[in-house]
Amino acid sequence: MTDHRHRLSDGYVSREMRVDDLEKLAEIDRRADQLFLETGISNIMAIATGPLTPLDAFSAMLTACTVTVACPSDDVPAGFIAVQRLGNDIYVRLLAVDPDHGRRGIGTSLLSLALDRGRRQGADRCILSTFRDVMFNRPYYERQGFSELPLETASALLRHQFAADIPAGIDPEQRLLMVRDL
Ligand SMILES: CC(C)(COP(=O)(O)OP(=O)(O)OC[C@H]1O[C@@H](n2cnc3c(N)ncnc32)[C@H](O)[C@@H]1OP(=O)(O)O)[C@@H](O)C(=O)NCCC(=O)NCCS
Repeated sequence: MTDHRHRLSDGYVSREMRVDDLEKLAEIDRRADQLFLETGISNIMAIATGPLTPLDAFSAMLTACTVTVACPSDDVPAGFIAVQRLGNDIYVRLLAVDPDHGRRGIGTSLLSLALDRGRRQGADRCILSTFRDVMFNRPYYERQGFSELPLETASALLRHQFAADIPAGIDPEQRLLMVRDL
């Protein structure tokens, strides 16, 4: 298999996920969730302390996706993006950066790589679901060219994915679908 690597921001390098990265990616996801404690919104903060996603469920979700990781020089992942093809769109299932490596442009560069890949593969749009009122969610994606896709205008496939992505204990009104043309 060809190992495509790209230089990201701040000395980090991207590569495709390997099977032996799985537990590390689950740990990054959990550590990234700790950022929700900063939101001050009680049911969103509860995500940080809620039950762990079982590793086999996490693994099954990633299996359906193309997963790209970002690593510093030790080649141990510090962040990742998991993207799935949904019809003519690509859909970001997960984007997470370990807070110890946060705010260095990793999330932005992983997203940008995923957009480039989607474009090369002929996808029309990139879609994701996220929190409306979390600083590193809706406003973060707006800065990267995304805007709200009103649920009532979304396809049944996207509405289904939106519903499936709502974390336990969260009101659907706290979430939104976002879209960016490729
Ligand atoms: C969203 C996330 C992937 C961003 O990764 P990152 O590598 O830290 O982001 P970047 O370095 O590319 O961008 C940094 C910008 O994101 C926003 N941001 C990142 N962390 C933030 C925080 N704790 N509070 C507020 N804004 C934050 C800021 O706008 C920041 O810019 P600034 O540092 O100039 O203020 C990361 O914060 C994360 O894993 N969050 C938890 C999981 C999550 O919400 N994932 C997205 C779900 S759809």
